[in-house]
Amino acid sequence: MKLSYVMISIIAVVCAVLLSSAAFAQELKGKHKENAIACVDCHKVENPDKPASMESCIECHGSYADVKELTKDLPEANPHDSHLGELDCRDCHKMHKPSEVVCASCHNFDFVAP
Ligand code: HEC
Ligand code: HEC
Ligand code: HEC
Ligand code: HEC
Repeated sequence: MKLSYVMISIIAVVCAVLLSSAAFAQELKGKHKENAIACVDCHKVENPDKPASMESCIECHGSYADVKELTKDLPEANPHDSHLGELDCRDCHKMHKPSEVVCASCHNFDFVAP
């Protein structure tokens, strides 16, 4: 009896630690999740506690010139090439929550940021 009580207590403590760890709180989504991109690839530390910088995006996705090319054929406008200049990728692309298109505060384009 006493032993199982101790076991339950240990399990409870382990669960509490896991649930409170950032790895559980910060789910990835989309292609990064499918490709199993590691926390450290973006955050540069094993146990991040603050947002990753834009430098990491550039390391894998190339320069702004490269991402402009990816979306140059969109019919309405190029979200990567506009009168707002070279925006921070993270303004639109959110890694742990739904993305948003900052153009939408003024325009009504059809594109949706993944
Ligand atoms: C370690 C490499 C790596 C890093 C760092 C990285 N990505 Fe990616 N990203 C990928 C891969 C791989 C894909 C999937 C490519 C594919 O399947 O075409 C991807 C896909 C994407 C997509 C398409 C998403 C989707 O779900 O369709 C966007 C947008 C994107 N990345 C933005 C970013 C931004 C913004 C950052 C910086 C915060 C970033 N990435 C950092 C590797 C990386
Ligand atoms: C103004 C908002 C905005 C910013 C800033 C932005 N993106 Fe995007 N991005 C988009 C939208 C919208 C799409 C989807 C376009 C479409 O419908 O094909 C997209 C698509 C992508 C894709 C997928 C392209 C494909 O064809 O699979 C990648 C990768 C990507 N962005 C990376 C980046 C990176 C890296 C940066 C920073 C250097 C960045 N984006 C900055 C809005 C943005
Ligand atoms: C593809 C790049 C990428 C990967 C992989 C990634 N992150 Fe992030 N992370 C970001 C960016 C960019 C932000 C800024 C907020 C956002 O985009 O949702 C962020 C924000 C955070 C924050 C700060 C949240 C806040 O509100 O200040 C934490 C903590 C975090 N990530 C933890 C993690 C953990 C843990 C993992 C691995 C399970 C991980 N991240 C994987 C890019 C990434
Ligand atoms: C603060 C408001 C605002 C935001 C945010 C904004 N725009 Fe604009 N945009 C304007 C205004 C104002 C004009 C000029 C309208 C006109 O002349 O009819 C314009 C014009 C344009 C035009 C047509 C003229 C040109 O420069 O070729 C395009 C395309 C465009 N915006 C794309 C974008 C994209 C893509 C984004 C997001 C990356 C964006 N805009 C964000 C206000 C904004």
